[in-house]
This record gives sequence, structure tokens and C-alpha cells, in this order.
Amino acid sequence: MAREHWGTRIGLILAMAGNAVGLGNFLRFPTQAAQNGGGVFMIPYMISIVVIAIPLMWTEWAIGRYGGVKGHGTTPAIFKLLWKHPIAKYVGVLGLFVPFVVACYYVYIESWTLGYAVMSIGGMLPTEAAASAAPGTAQYLKPFQDLLATYTGMGNGNIYQPSIMAYLFFLVTVALNVWILIKGISGGIEKLAKLAMPSLFLMALVLMVRVLTLETPQGSAVEGLNFLWTPDWSQLSNPKVWLAAAGQVFFTLSLGFGAIITYASYLGKNDDLVLSGLSAASLNELAEVVLGGSIAIPAAAAFFGVMAAQQIAASGAFNLAFVSLPAIFANIPMGSLFGFLWFTLLFFAGLTSSVAITQPVIAFLEDEFRLKRPHAVIATMTFLFGIAHVPIFLGKALDEMDFWAGTFFVVIFALIEVIIFFWIFESKRAWEEINRGAIVKAPTIFFPIIKYVTPLFLIVILGWWTFDVLPGYLKNGSWTAWVTRELLVGIGFFLCFLVFLSDRRRRSK
Ligand code: PHE
Repeated sequence: MAREHWGTRIGLILAMAGNAVGLGNFLRFPTQAAQNGGGVFMIPYMISIVVIAIPLMWTEWAIGRYGGVKGHGTTPAIFKLLWKHPIAKYVGVLGLFVPFVVACYYVYIESWTLGYAVMSIGGMLPTEAAASAAPGTAQYLKPFQDLLATYTGMGNGNIYQPSIMAYLFFLVTVALNVWILIKGISGGIEKLAKLAMPSLFLMALVLMVRVLTLETPQGSAVEGLNFLWTPDWSQLSNPKVWLAAAGQVFFTLSLGFGAIITYASYLGKNDDLVLSGLSAASLNELAEVVLGGSIAIPAAAAFFGVMAAQQIAASGAFNLAFVSLPAIFANIPMGSLFGFLWFTLLFFAGLTSSVAITQPVIAFLEDEFRLKRPHAVIATMTFLFGIAHVPIFLGKALDEMDFWAGTFFVVIFALIEVIIFFWIFESKRAWEEINRGAIVKAPTIFFPIIKYVTPLFLIVILGWWTFDVLPGYLKNGSWTAWVTRELLVGIGFFLCFLVFLSDRRRRSK
């Protein structure tokens, strides 16, 4: 059975950009930036792009293409090719675990954006209550806070009670993902990207122009921009800001998730990756710092003032996206249309990413168990659907999953990748792999950066986390957090078992 391939280079770049451009760009980035002092955040962010993002981007593309040529799209098998050690395939389980666990809650959040898009255009979002209260006051946001609380059912309790509507939109979102995934790499994912990415950029542009012209007695959008773009060099020594910036760079570019590797495994042996990888990453950064940075925060700054905007962001990404922005749109002409644009934009961003995080497990079942694509998709999505009920109903499970899979293991996985590729597989060969078929070669300065600086940087980040963030985190464990952790361990073992089976299967042939 021949492996699938991307149809065109532009399709590949758009699919990779679609992979990277996600809820992270429009929700996570503005929140992280605001929580970490705005201009303070952007310097470590830019530095992280050079020392972490570009090196890891090329590494993941090269690892993926290398494996794909040999018929494997996920790291259990690819690590085994790169590192002839019995443990290699189990280390590679991370490349299935991380994207799968993230997918289990990502698809759910994605479904809220669809629900809210429909509610916006259907005129089902609160308006009067918001209009009667003055901008900047608590009452102004209240109806939207209440709506979000009812919709998601998330509160302080251990069990959440989401609305029927939330559950129905979740079902629709899962079905939509299944439908696209079944159509395959070029017939499903690539087609989606060619449609969704240009529309996404257009919608973001319209919203950006609208937001940047907002001005109220409380403030203006430009003040929000100033807050983000006035560098504060004195904060460079604050480790918390560095961690946040590095974490954001990982998340937004989908690095350390295995998702890029799997997408790259559908490249041809001599297809360029240096320029293509850079192009996809640049599109993501455009969507993040230009578009993502010019909507949520500036809008909040205009309506509530910079200080209040920071407070809203500090109360979480969901408040910025689902509370503050709809509240603002409720008070401008054609607000329901702008609200619709905003949530549709988020939905497109989410959809092109969720198919990317589900693809690794699907590829694993196809490549290693020879499952037909529809069967692999149904099996993966059924499993995902089941596990997703944990973050939907169990208090704080979502945060727990995000902390372990979406933050901690991502960095570990990235470090392992670089070490296996540049130290065990050998740096000269790795560098040749990266540059094979390159339209422009990677600048030589990146050779020592990837080999020494990137792993060192990752080790420092990891060490800092392990000793500073982790103990405090583990201390305040509620029972729901523990149940979620047990579940994650269970998923990990189950995936290891699958890898064990696939390996036996291959050997017995
Ligand atoms: N990069 C995506 C975002 O910004 C998240 C993601 C991570 C998607 C890993 C796919 C794989 O939202």
C-alpha cells in the first residue's frame, strides 16, 4: 500500500500553516503576552523563535520526511530507524501521546467557537444588558460571563454540567473532523487548508481593521498596541517571562507535538523543506504577532483601558475570547456580524489544527497495523470521543491535560528529538537530511545552533520547570486532578502496548 502524498507545494505549505495557526494564535498568544507585561514578553519570544523554533521546525520536517520515505509517519517507528536501541520505539510513544491527549480537549474548545459563531449570527448572544451598563464596568461583562458559564457548565465544582447545545456542537465538530480526515491527506486536509487558510487571513484582516479604529472614553486600540510593542529590556532577566515565551513558541508552531513530523512524512524524498518550513512558520508568525496581537488585546484596551484589558487576560484566554470580545461587539454597529467573523475565524483556525493533532495516531494505525484509512480514522476518533468526556465533565481535567501533554512533555519530546537526530543519528547526516532538495540551503550558523544551543536552552527550561513549577503544581492536587493523571498514565501505557504489538507484528513478517 503506497503512502499518501501532498498534492502541491502551496497546498503543503498551507496545510502546515493550518497545522500551526490555531486557537493558540488568537487566544493563547494575546493572553500570554498580556499576562507577561506585553512589550516585556516580545523579546524572549523573538529570541525563542531563533534558538528554538527554526531549529526544531527543520528538525521535525527532516525527521518526518526521512521516516515517510521509509513508510513510517510517527516517532515510535522513526526513532527506531534513527537510533538502533530497543528503548527508542517507546521513547517515540511521546509522539502519539502528546498530540492525542491535546486533541481530546482541543476539539472540545474548537466546538465552542462553532457554537458561538452560530449564536452570534443567530442573534442569540446577549445585547441589551450589555448596552445598558457602561463599558469598563463589571456588569458590562456579566451577561457574557454568565452565558459562558451556562454554555460550558464550567465552574468551581468537581463535575461540570455543559449545556445540551455545547454537547451537540461538540458532536458536530467531531463529525466534521472525521469527515475531513477520512478524505485523506491531499483530498481532505490539503483541500481544507486551501479553503480555510485564505478565508481565515481575510477574516482576521477585516477584524483587525475594525478593531484598530475603535476608540472610547476608556481608551483606544492604539494604546493596546503600544502596550504590546514597547520593549522593556529590563525584564530580560525574569525567568517566568522566558518560560512563558518559550512555551508559547512551542504551542503556536505545533513543535514537540509530533504533528509536524507526521505531516512532513507525506513529503517526497527530495522535496524542499528548508524554505517550505520557513514559509509555513512565517505565515504562523504573521497570523500570531500581527493579526493575533491586533485583535483581542487592542479591542479590550479600547473598551476597558489597558489596565483592565490586562486583568481580563489574566483571568484566562477564554474570558478574552468568549466574554470580552463578544461584549465589545455587542456594542458596535453590525456587532453580530463581527462576532460571527471572530468565532468563524477561531473555528477555522481550530479545525485546521485539530485534524493535524489527530493525524499522528491515525498514521500510526495505517503505517504500523496496515489499517485502511477510514478504519484508522474511526478507531482514533472513537477513542478520542470517549476520552474527551473527561475534560468535558470532570473539573479542572482540561488544565491538567494541558499542563502535562500541552506544556511539559512537549519540551521533553523536543529535547529528545534534537538529541536523537543531531547527536545519535549524527549531526553531519542530520544536516544533510535537512538540506537535501533545499531550494535555498539553511544558513551554516544554524548547524551549531541546533547542535548545541537548542538542546542547552531546552535543558535549562526543563530544569527550571522541574525544580520550580512542578513541585508547587503537584502539591495542590484535587481528586479530579489525580483521576486525570491516572488516566494519562493509562493512555501512555496503552500506547506503549500498541507499539509493542506493532513491533512484534513487523518482526514476525
Ligand atoms: N499550533 C496550534 C495552535 O496554535 C496548536 C497545535 C499544536 C496544533 C500541535 C497542532 C499540533 O493552536
